[in-house]
Amino acid sequence: MATAGSAVGLGNIWKFPYIAGQNGGGAFLLVYIICVILFGLPLLMTELYIGKQSGKSVYGAFRTLRKNNRWQWLSWVCMLTGLVIMGFYFVVTGWCFHYFTAAITHAYKGMDSASLLDHFHGLVSDFPTMLSYSFLAVLLTAAVLWFDVNKGIERLSKILMPLLLIMMFLMAGRVLMLDGSNIGIQFFFQADFSKLTPQVVLAALGQCFFSLSIGMGALITYGAYMPKEQDITITSVQVAFLDTLVAILAGIIIFPAVFAFGVNPAEGPELVFVVLPEILEKMSFSWLSGILFFSLLGIAAITSTISLMEVVVAFATEVSAHTRHPLNRHKSVILVSITVMVMVTACISSMTGSPSWLIIGGHTLFDWFDKLSSCVFMPLNAFAMALFVGWFLPKDGIAHQLGNQPGIKTYIADCYIQIVRFLVPLAIIAIFLNGLGLWK
Ligand code: TRP
Repeated sequence: MATAGSAVGLGNIWKFPYIAGQNGGGAFLLVYIICVILFGLPLLMTELYIGKQSGKSVYGAFRTLRKNNRWQWLSWVCMLTGLVIMGFYFVVTGWCFHYFTAAITHAYKGMDSASLLDHFHGLVSDFPTMLSYSFLAVLLTAAVLWFDVNKGIERLSKILMPLLLIMMFLMAGRVLMLDGSNIGIQFFFQADFSKLTPQVVLAALGQCFFSLSIGMGALITYGAYMPKEQDITITSVQVAFLDTLVAILAGIIIFPAVFAFGVNPAEGPELVFVVLPEILEKMSFSWLSGILFFSLLGIAAITSTISLMEVVVAFATEVSAHTRHPLNRHKSVILVSITVMVMVTACISSMTGSPSWLIIGGHTLFDWFDKLSSCVFMPLNAFAMALFVGWFLPKDGIAHQLGNQPGIKTYIADCYIQIVRFLVPLAIIAIFLNGLGLWK
């Protein structure tokens, strides 16, 4: 449940629809599902395995398994990746908090798509408001880590996640009753292969990593806490299935509404925030529906930010342990929160356009953090982790850990080894070079 809580987040509900919208809808969905099965699943298993086998979080895991420091650099890159993701993830979490308060005051009542878009742009250019909501998200996450109430949050999300799913099913039902909803469904489910470019494949791969929380070592930590008898293969299949279900459900909610309301599906990060309030307004008990949905979305976001920040906090504690200034957990939480707040401030400043040097190459830091993490850091970290497990660890340990059922155990392990040895590294390199336009 905790791993699912980390995976299901804004990546599914906010990011998936807009990336799918920008990359051709149906064709993207198809490539995305293939990516989840071919790369997502084995890499989920890889990270959980590294964690479970070593019993350590990212800083200790590689050196424990290899008994030397040669892979230590990877833990540093993972930690940096976490910081970069947090630099923009907290900004989006802040947007969710803002929309939660807007739901309470029913501020978006009666607005059409054009005024909702204006409202969103107003929010993004309002520096103090953006900063307050994003800092609130950082502080909430820091508080969970400070008071060590992860377990409580996990128990809470056991109730709230199913509730989010039910709410999303209800919204999907309402959206499908809109006039013209079939155009959106066609856009999302009918693959137009002329839209399939190398960039679409790279976007799908990056989205798959982001959504499943792969490629920064977050799941190594979860693997380390996994009970002995729990099966890595089954857990990975369940998490990948649930995460993809939520993403597809988000697509079924967003796209019919996008076309019914006359919004551009390639709108970008603002897409869901322009469409969701209008959908919620059309639900029965619209005021309560809005409050319920945005509170659930906020909680889904926080269960993900907890997993992001946890990695960096644990890293800071462990790295400093052997220095002259060891940081205890509380000091690490403070240090990491301040660092994240600086990054978030830079990100928001860049989005409001001042100072102008924070806009680099025509793109805001928000875009840079987002693209760099999903399309560069996470695939490369995942590439390294696949090589690590595939080529540098003893094979029998893997067979032992991957499954608890004796019959299929060796079969799964054999397939798995081939996939992480060859398929995953080669495919990541090919997609990566192709997508970046360096090859072909
Ligand atoms: N997967 C989360 C989402 O979909 C985001 C996330 C949480 C994440 N922890 C992560 C992404 C670790 C990469 C790595 O919203």
